[in-house]
Amino acid sequence: MARSRKRATAAARGPQPAAAAAAVPEPAAAAEADAAGDLVLRPPNLRVAFAAMALFLAPFSYLAFVHYPLDADLRRSILICGAISLVGFLVVLRLVPVAARYLLRRGMFGKDINKKGLLMGEIKVPESLGIVVGIVYLVIAILFQHYNFAPDSIWLVEYNAALASVCFMILLGFIDDVLDIPWRVKLVLPAIAALPLLMAYAGGTSIIIPKPLASYVGVEVLELGWMYMLFMLLLAVFCTNSINIHAGLNGLEVGQTVVISAAVLIHNVMRIGSSKDPETQQAHAFSIYLVLPFLTTSLALLGFNWYPSSVFVGDTYTYFAGMTLAVVGILGHFSETLLLFFLPQVLNFLCSVPQLFHFVHCPRHRLPSFEKRTGLLTGTKDGNLVNIFLRLFGKCSEKSLCIRLLIFQALSCLFCFWLRYMLTGWYK
Ligand code: UD1
Ligand code: MG
Repeated sequence: MARSRKRATAAARGPQPAAAAAAVPEPAAAAEADAAGDLVLRPPNLRVAFAAMALFLAPFSYLAFVHYPLDADLRRSILICGAISLVGFLVVLRLVPVAARYLLRRGMFGKDINKKGLLMGEIKVPESLGIVVGIVYLVIAILFQHYNFAPDSIWLVEYNAALASVCFMILLGFIDDVLDIPWRVKLVLPAIAALPLLMAYAGGTSIIIPKPLASYVGVEVLELGWMYMLFMLLLAVFCTNSINIHAGLNGLEVGQTVVISAAVLIHNVMRIGSSKDPETQQAHAFSIYLVLPFLTTSLALLGFNWYPSSVFVGDTYTYFAGMTLAVVGILGHFSETLLLFFLPQVLNFLCSVPQLFHFVHCPRHRLPSFEKRTGLLTGTKDGNLVNIFLRLFGKCSEKSLCIRLLIFQALSCLFCFWLRYMLTGWYK
C-alpha cells in the first residue's frame, strides 16, 4: 500500500464527502462523522462469521470429542483453549471498530480497487486491521501457557520462541503497511522474523525418506543438519509471501487462512487419534493450541472483511497468518502436509514467478478489471489465480470469485486428506 502517496492525495483533494460512506449506514452522517475523525463501522457480517465457525469447527469438535477416544487431560486442554479462543473471537469483534477509527485518523486506509468508478470505490477503507487479531491472538496464546504447561515443561521454550517469531512478524507486517516497503525487501522480512524460532529449535533435523525412495538414497532416515534449518526458513518465507500475493478480493486473505487452519486442526486431531507415540501426539496437541485461537480470532475479522469489506486486513495480517501456519507446521512436524494444504498458494506462486522476478512487467496491483456497468470482474493478463479463474470460468462478481477460490482451497485440503489416506503405509 502506498501510504505516503495516499495520504498526500487525500490531503490534496481535501475532505472527501463520500469518505467512510460504506462504513456507516447514512452517507450524510458518514461525511459528518468522518470530518470529526469519528468513523462508525458497518456492523460485521455475523452470519458469515458464525456459519464459517460452525462449518469449520464442527468436524474438528466431532473428531476430538466423539470419534477418537482422546486422553481426558488432552480433551480438557482443548476445551480450555477453545473457551479462551471464543472469548478472543468476541474481543476482536469489539476491538476492530475502535482500532479502525484510530487507523483511519492516522491515514491508514486503502481504496477498494475492485469497485473503482463507483462511490464505494472512493471510500477510505481502514487498513491493517490484522493488528487487532495479532495482538488478541498473542494475549490468548501467552495466557494459555498458564493452564497447560508446567513451568519446567520442555515445550515451553519452543512455544515461546514460536510466539516471538509470530510477534516479530506482526511488527514487521505493520511496519510494511506503514512504510510500504519495496517488494524485494518485503520478501525477506519473514526470514528475519523466523530467527527466534530457528535459534530456539531443539527438535530433530532429520527426515524420514519415503519408502519408495529409500533404496535409491541408501538410508531410511536422512540427517539434514543446517539444511533443515534452511528449509524451515524457506517455509516461513514461502507461507507468508504466498498468502500475501493470493489477495486483493474482499474476504480472500482471511478466508483462505480460515480454510487452511480448519484443515490443520482436523489433521492434528486425526494424527493424535491414530498415533500411539506420545511425542507425536504432543507435537500435534501443541499445534492445536496455536491454531485454535488463530482460527476463532480470524473468523471475527472475516465478519468485517467479507464482501463488501468495511476493513482491510493489511500485510500485518497476511504475514502474521503465514508465519503462524509455518510455525505450527514446523513444530508439529507436518510441513509436507502443510504444503499440500497450500496447493492454491503454490499454484498462484508458480504462475506469478515471471512477474515476481520481473521477466514480465509487474504492476503494483495485479487485480482484475472492474466493469462499472455490470458490476462484474474481467480477468487481465496478470499471472495469478484470481485472473486465471476469471479467464477460465468467465466474468463474475467479486463475491462469487472469492467463494470460488475458497471452494478451490477447501477442495485442495480434501485432496490432501485423500492423498494421505491413499499413501499411508506405502509412502512412509
Ligand atoms: C499484493 C499483490 C497485489 C495485490 C495486493 C492486494 C503481488 C505481487 N502483489 O500486493 O497484486 O493487488 O496484494 O492485496 O501479487 N485491496 C482491495 N480489495 C481487497 C484487498 C485489498 O482493493 O479486498 C487493495 C486496497 O487498495 C488495499 C491494497 O489492496 O489498500 C493492499 O495492498 P497491499 O497488501 O499493500 O499489496 P501487496 O501485498 O504489496
Ligand atoms: Mg498485502
